[in-house]
Order: sequence, then structure tokens, then C-alpha cells
Amino acid sequence: MRHFDYKDGVMHAEDVSLARIAQEVGTPVYVYSAATLTRHFNVFAGAFEGRDVLVAYSVKANSNLAVLSLLGKLGAGADVVSGGELARALTAGIPASKIVFSGVGKKPAEMRAALKAGIRMFNVESEPELEALNAVAVDMGMRAPISFRVNPDVTAGGHEKISTGKAENKFGVAWSAAEAAYARAAELPGIEIVGVDVHIGSQIDELAPFKAAIEKVSGLIERLRAAGHSIKMFDIGGGLGIPYGSNAPAPPLPSEYGAMVKEATAHLDVQMVFEPGRMIAGNAGVLLSTVTYVKRGENRDFLIVDAAMNDLIRPALYDAYHEIEPIIAPKPTTPQKLYDVVGPVCESGDTFTKQREFPQMVSGDVIVMHSAGAYGAVQAGQYNTRPLVPEVLVSGDRYAVVRDRPLVEEILKTESVPSWL
Ligand code: LLP
Repeated sequence: MRHFDYKDGVMHAEDVSLARIAQEVGTPVYVYSAATLTRHFNVFAGAFEGRDVLVAYSVKANSNLAVLSLLGKLGAGADVVSGGELARALTAGIPASKIVFSGVGKKPAEMRAALKAGIRMFNVESEPELEALNAVAVDMGMRAPISFRVNPDVTAGGHEKISTGKAENKFGVAWSAAEAAYARAAELPGIEIVGVDVHIGSQIDELAPFKAAIEKVSGLIERLRAAGHSIKMFDIGGGLGIPYGSNAPAPPLPSEYGAMVKEATAHLDVQMVFEPGRMIAGNAGVLLSTVTYVKRGENRDFLIVDAAMNDLIRPALYDAYHEIEPIIAPKPTTPQKLYDVVGPVCESGDTFTKQREFPQMVSGDVIVMHSAGAYGAVQAGQYNTRPLVPEVLVSGDRYAVVRDRPLVEEILKTESVPSWL
């Protein structure tokens, strides 16, 4: 069931009209559906029924405190990649015991904060990081629970910029160095080995690469156990793709993914950890934008809208496709036209789509860009001094602004001109 759909000719998020949100909050604005977030989390967690699993939602996909708090109440843990994300997850009430800390460049201060909080485990990505973590833990009189993120050299992911499990990627400990890394970790007084971690990429639309990675890592787990290491947890990361648009190919369902994982890991007595991001948040959010001008070019028409690449960078960065619709359902008599949909930022890359067919539009029409709940607001910036786009959470017939649009004066206040200038 779609929680963003036309009702009486107006697109709604659950029971709230998007026209009303556009009017009351202004555009551009992100709108999330609590019911969709809930359904996605429950469907994902439900796919592992009967197994000991921790679903550590990948905070980077959508880190709004309201979203984290909702998921936390459903039982989600969190996969964080910075001290900032750690603070968000804890502030949202996610217990430290359900937090895993990933990322290639953790700094000592971030390690310290995570150790102090008592997180479940660190996913360590290199030997220098291991040594740094050991030093921090020893200094604090603690032992840091770790998995190594191993790089299984598997090809996966919808775009080269989001593929992470190939040997040439910066992520994880090289496959050939993994066993030596565990041997070193076992010697360190500040380190407690608890598991193995792998994450091969994002927007993966088939099961085969996941299966290949799980099989490879299962073999590693058996070798590590034979070498005397205690491997209690197997974190297989995130990465399950989502359909971008109604005509897009459908990636495997969470139930299919779950069945495959359960079968492929049946022989291992481990607690499974998952780090889904996009699958939970992607189709739980949209970006609303208003058409500022319809401009006639030499050989094409442009819809110049008030959202831009600084608000939703995915099309510019990954050539990503987002389905776009007017929030008022077109009449059957409305002619179809080809448009380039572009933002006001001074770059040709500030283009959401080129030469796509839409019902004819006029200035003032509001459009919705679908599948923008993951890697949308979190990747927004203030380029061209465009204030960060606000976020709204809908639940049933209620909505709340869960991140304000800053005033330009507030942005300017964070900067200063030195007195000597
Ligand atoms: N775990 C780790 C260690 C990750 O690096 C990521 C995503 C995830 C989990 C969550 O993956 P997901 O389930 O969301 O696929 N900005 C890009 C996506 C970057 C993904 C980065 N890592 C985009 O907009 O497509």
C-alpha cells in the first residue's frame, strides 16, 4: 500500500494533504510518513522471525531525531558512522547496547564517546584504527568490543559511487589480511573480538552478491573460530535496494532476502546484525517543490522549481531517477509535455530530470519527488546560501515540523569578519 497517494485529486501523505503542508510550511520541504517507516521496519525485522537479530538502522540514510525516535520505539538499533550520529541515536533514546559504530576514519574522541556510552561494537576497518581504538580503551580501563569489516571483493551496488565491497574500494580490511588482523586484535588488552562485519554496497537489486559475500565470510568465520577467536556476531551490513518509481525493476523483497540469509547462515551459530538504511527510509519520504517558472528554451521547456541540488543531490551526484508528479491529479484532458526539471542553483548539474513527460504545468504548481526519504535531507547543504530544507513527519491526520527551515540571518550569525580585516 502506498502512503503517498491521491485522495479526491490531491496527493496526501497518509491522511494529510500535501497541498496543506506546502501551504503551511512552504516549499521545498521533505515529508515523511510514520506509517511507511513503521511498515518497512516491521517487514524487514519480520523477515528474520525466529532468529536472533539486531536491526541497526543505518542512521546516515535519514538521521532526523523524530525518525530515529520512531524506529527506536519499534525496537531498532542504530548503525552510526560519526560522533554526531552517535549523539543523535542516543538522544533519540536508542539504547547504546543496540548501537554499532562503522566508518573508515573514526577519531579517538569519537571512540571515547562510544566506549563511554557502552555501544554494542565497533566495526573496525583497518589495523591503524585497531591500534588507535586499543590505545583509547586501555586509557579508559576498558575493552572495546570489535568486529573487523572485511572487504570480500564482491561486485555490487547500483552505481560506482555507492559500491563498497570491491578490492579497490577504501572500505574494510583487505580479504588477504583479515586473519592476521584478528590475530593482532587478540593480542591487544583493550580489544575484545566479538564478530565479523561486511557491507558490500547500496541499492543492490539482486540477491546473488549478498549470497556470495555471506558464503565467503561464513568460511572466514569458521577459520577464525578454528584459530580460537570467539565470533558471536555476523554483521552483514545494509544495501538492499528499493524501487525508484512505479516502472522501476523491483529489487528482492525483504522476505526473499531474509529467507536467503537464514538459509545461508543456518549452519553458523551467530547473532545476525543488519544495517538497512534506504530500505527503511527511502520510500517513506518525498520532497515537495513549487514550480517558480515555466521557461521556454531554444529547443526544450524547463520547469524551474524551488528545490535544488543542495536540497536533493542524488540526481546530480548519481544520475539518480526520482519519480515526479504534480500534487494535484491532472485532468484527463490536460496535455502531456516534455520538460527538463531544474533548480535555481547556478550549475547545469542542478537538474532533476531531462526531457521527461509530465502533464502540462504552470507557475505555482506543486510537485512531489518520490523516494526521497533516504539520502535526501541528510545530504542537503546550503550552497548558494539556500537555507537547509525543513522536514515534516506525518502520522495519520497529524503532522509536525521535525526540522525547521533556518533563517538566512541564523546562517549569517555563524560567520564573522575578523576585527583586523
Ligand atoms: N552500513 C554501512 C557501513 C554503509 O556504508 C551503508 C551505506 C549502510 C549500512 C546502509 O546502506 P543502505 O541500506 O542504505 O543501502 N548516498 C547514496 C548511498 C550511500 C550509501 C552509503 N553507505 C545514495 O544516495 O544512493
